[in-house]
Amino acid sequence: MPGMVRLSFLLKLLFSLALSLVSSTTDTGEDQFVYSGFSRSILDLDGAATITPDGVLELTNHTVHIKAHAFYPSPWLLRKSPGEMVQSFSVSFVFGMVPIYSDKCTDGMTFLISPTKDFSGAQASQYLGLLNKTIDGQKSNHIFAVELDSSQNTEFGDIDDNHIGIDIYSLTSTKSNTAGFYDDRNNGIFKNLSLVSHKEMQLWVDYNGDTTQINVTLAPLRLIKPSRPLLSTTYNLSTVLEDQSYIGFSASTGPINSLYCVLGWSLGVNRPAPLIDIAKLPKLPHVGPKSRSKLLEIILPIATAIFIFLVGTTVILFVRRRMKYAEINEDLEVEFGPHRFSYKDLFHATDGFKNKNLLGLGGFGKVYRGLLSASKLEVAVKRVSHESQQGMKEFVAEIVSIGRLQHRNLVQLLGYCRRKGELLLVYEYMSNGSLDKYLHCEEDKPTLNWAQRFQIIKGVASGLFYLHERWEKVVLHRDIKASNVLLDSEMNGRLGDFGLARLYDHGTDPQTTHVVGTMGYLAPELARTGKATTQTDVYAFGIFILEVTCGQRPINNHADDSSQILIDWVVEHWHKGLLTYTLDRRLQCNDNSDEVNLALNLALLCAHPFCNARPSMRQVIQYLNSEIPLPELIPTNISYTVLGLMQNEGFDQYASLPSTVGSSGMTSSLSSGR
Ligand SMILES: *[C@@H]1O[C@H](CO)[C@@H](O)[C@H](O)[C@H]1NC(C)=O
Ligand SMILES: *[C@@H]1O[C@H](CO)[C@@H](O)[C@H](O)[C@H]1NC(C)=O
Ligand SMILES: *[C@@H]1O[C@H](CO)[C@@H](O)[C@H](O)[C@H]1NC(C)=O
Ligand SMILES: *[C@@H]1O[C@H](CO)[C@@H](O)[C@H](O)[C@H]1NC(C)=O
Ligand SMILES: *[C@@H]1O[C@H](CO)[C@@H](O)[C@H](O)[C@H]1NC(C)=O
Repeated sequence: MPGMVRLSFLLKLLFSLALSLVSSTTDTGEDQFVYSGFSRSILDLDGAATITPDGVLELTNHTVHIKAHAFYPSPWLLRKSPGEMVQSFSVSFVFGMVPIYSDKCTDGMTFLISPTKDFSGAQASQYLGLLNKTIDGQKSNHIFAVELDSSQNTEFGDIDDNHIGIDIYSLTSTKSNTAGFYDDRNNGIFKNLSLVSHKEMQLWVDYNGDTTQINVTLAPLRLIKPSRPLLSTTYNLSTVLEDQSYIGFSASTGPINSLYCVLGWSLGVNRPAPLIDIAKLPKLPHVGPKSRSKLLEIILPIATAIFIFLVGTTVILFVRRRMKYAEINEDLEVEFGPHRFSYKDLFHATDGFKNKNLLGLGGFGKVYRGLLSASKLEVAVKRVSHESQQGMKEFVAEIVSIGRLQHRNLVQLLGYCRRKGELLLVYEYMSNGSLDKYLHCEEDKPTLNWAQRFQIIKGVASGLFYLHERWEKVVLHRDIKASNVLLDSEMNGRLGDFGLARLYDHGTDPQTTHVVGTMGYLAPELARTGKATTQTDVYAFGIFILEVTCGQRPINNHADDSSQILIDWVVEHWHKGLLTYTLDRRLQCNDNSDEVNLALNLALLCAHPFCNARPSMRQVIQYLNSEIPLPELIPTNISYTVLGLMQNEGFDQYASLPSTVGSSGMTSSLSSGR
């Protein structure tokens, strides 16, 4: 019967049409897609990225220093045909940043368009899993991204730790603004939004192919798209993007573990991004204490009875506990910087500061290893005791500001806790311990090879350069030495304890000069004036280079009570033209003699007895990268120590100096800042 056949054919057609309509909720063809939640979605994930059973795309997991990516699986042709200009497109996505154990997240996430899905070369932390040091700023990377950055990196000129930026080829944003939106309900007034807030937000990226205008608009979830974008710029993306473009997200964590999530996502080419169905979106994961369990509900009535009995006991215990966990809280300590930890958490993290968790004895107090129970984060807790309350208060203000310093060659300060007569500082835990253990270990233990040592010298130089010149004010380290350099899991050298020496400046009588530092690393003029400057830091850095290169302590005490000053010993060899003989004898590296020579000569320049002859850290970096040649040192027949003594006696005019060097009388005027 032909009628029947036609009917069944029609039904089939209708059925398949209906089917295609159903599946269109995720992919409606060539020029758009929309995900309202990611359950059963196929995205290309790498790194820490996962899709949870309820459909949240979690870019990061509970791990520090990791990166992750999620891509729409197939590439998009944003050009009509290869070689033609990039067409207009519109993207919107719903995201959330969930802090795990404090009110901070590091480092951030990006929406990105790239010619490749292979980001194995990208770095985590401040590189947001997007680029690395080598390719940042290179046009060959063809990257367009919008960064959602929850930490401030002065390296990339970040304006604050809560901003959105348009990144073209580079993490140094073409344009950026503090996160927020122009509120149409309120005459277009600008309202700040806190990215790290455990609240969902929506972001739109619109590009007009004809005018090359790029708009980026942010709003809290459920608000209709504000009419005025947060960021607007023009940039011809036809010159940036390749013919084939992968579209997706990257994210990375730094020293603080953080959850970066995407809940929904849509794209339209030559049309607005399709609306994301907000009702279908999954919830942001809840991190923190688990909700009350059933078991508890059964136990609750019984517990109530016991509770009443316990009240009496508790009151007594409470008073005792208050004594035990007492902290000092001041309203003044506005927390812009690191997190304030409770003493109780730190007490539990370190098992009550048990000796088995003792990592070492620093110049400022004992350091313990700890595990924060809420976040499972390993930390190092330093207990610093100090008598002066006033001094401590001022110091905490400084610590809070210093805690905002972030650099890959500094040990990150995560937070602090203040008690009577005591300050606890919480740092990132460095798995490989301090550098001096590797340099001054027993003969048969494996030591560091030259490449590792040179890398560490460069790293410490870059950390110190950041402290001296890249932060909003000059931060002096004052105690650079191998035992203050810690090694992270990749054996990068990281400076610890920066700024801590300031503690001794606060609340002490300014008349009494208290020289902070370690014997052997003190610049000659420091002994005279007691005044630390960037140049006294450079001096100590010079001695540090020698310590790492020669594998010896700055002052070697011999069995017969005599002692040998490392720098004089090296200068002696230099006079004889035998400088490279001072290289650590555990190393044999004829292939790297250029680097060894550079390091030793630079060390002598940095540790020059006359402070004005020393280079700035900016120059040190240039010398280390061989961007500029090292000036020739003019040999003198006098030892550095004697020269230093002469300088202190006012004899400095007599000595021959490299290039143009004035008298040392300028020390104090140079030290007061830039
Ligand atoms: C987080 O992701 C990394 C892969 O990048 C993995 O090695 C690690 O085990 C993950 N951690 C957890 C807690 O899932
Ligand atoms: C930087 O990234 C590029 C491209 O992904 C890669 O080829 C290169 O090896 C990376 N460099 C470093 C130092 O990781
Ligand atoms: C918004 O944030 C900026 C930068 O952090 C700040 O200067 C400003 O006072 C904030 N405005 C409001 C209304 O909170
Ligand atoms: C960007 O925003 C402005 C101001 O609202 C608007 O006139 C323009 O059309 C927008 N451009 C794009 C590409 O959406
Ligand atoms: C953008 O660049 C493409 C390719 O270089 C060029 O053809 C096009 O005219 C440019 N568009 C504008 C608006 O300048």
